[in-house]
Amino acid sequence: MAKLRYLGHAAFYVEGAGLKALIDPFLSQNPWNIAQPEEFTDLNYIFITHGHGDHLGDAVEIAKRTGATIISIFEVANYCNRKGANIHPMHIGGTFDFPFGRVKLTPAAHGSAIVEGNELLYGGNPCGIIIENEGKNLYHAGDTGLISDMELLGKYEKIDIALLPIGGNFTMDPQDAAIAASMINPKLAIPMHYKTWPIIDKEPEEFKKLTERKGIDVQIIKPGKEITF
Ligand code: NI
Ligand code: MN
Repeated sequence: MAKLRYLGHAAFYVEGAGLKALIDPFLSQNPWNIAQPEEFTDLNYIFITHGHGDHLGDAVEIAKRTGATIISIFEVANYCNRKGANIHPMHIGGTFDFPFGRVKLTPAAHGSAIVEGNELLYGGNPCGIIIENEGKNLYHAGDTGLISDMELLGKYEKIDIALLPIGGNFTMDPQDAAIAASMINPKLAIPMHYKTWPIIDKEPEEFKKLTERKGIDVQIIKPGKEITF
């Protein structure tokens, strides 16, 4: 059984056979204040969906300290490599078989600039990530609007758990995320990327109601809590 711990915003810790990983490790500056980077001493991978600070977060520091390999789109991965992290660059539509399972990057409709001082660095395209482990497929949508590409996930990828942003303004809101869930058709949908700041103050209960109406199970994980799958 793999476990998935919600660290607030879009950050998760996932642990399963051969896998101890963080996804979008926005920790030290995360208003949810669930976990600090130093708490993670034993990791082998870090997944990053795009270059925005609330996703890239503490990835470089954690990767350098633990030796974990950063898996991300080419541009973000290479940015991290220039800072001294081990990387495995991929790109949208690409699949690779890691020792723990298959990883595939999927499209996301968003941006990916990396803010460094007064500059905006090019971060390539943002992505979603499908992570296979112990025969289950976990999909982290990253930041995205509703896109018809999600139909392909429902048709061809057998998603067990879908982590979907619902906070609006920068991403889907509960209404659009419920439509996304119906297209992806996961066994379980979990809302993320809400209430971190007032600008994304949307209700996970609203997402749950709308999505369950479409026949898809939803679990709201309180930041800091974990589930097994
Ligand atoms: Ni973003
Ligand atoms: Mn974000």
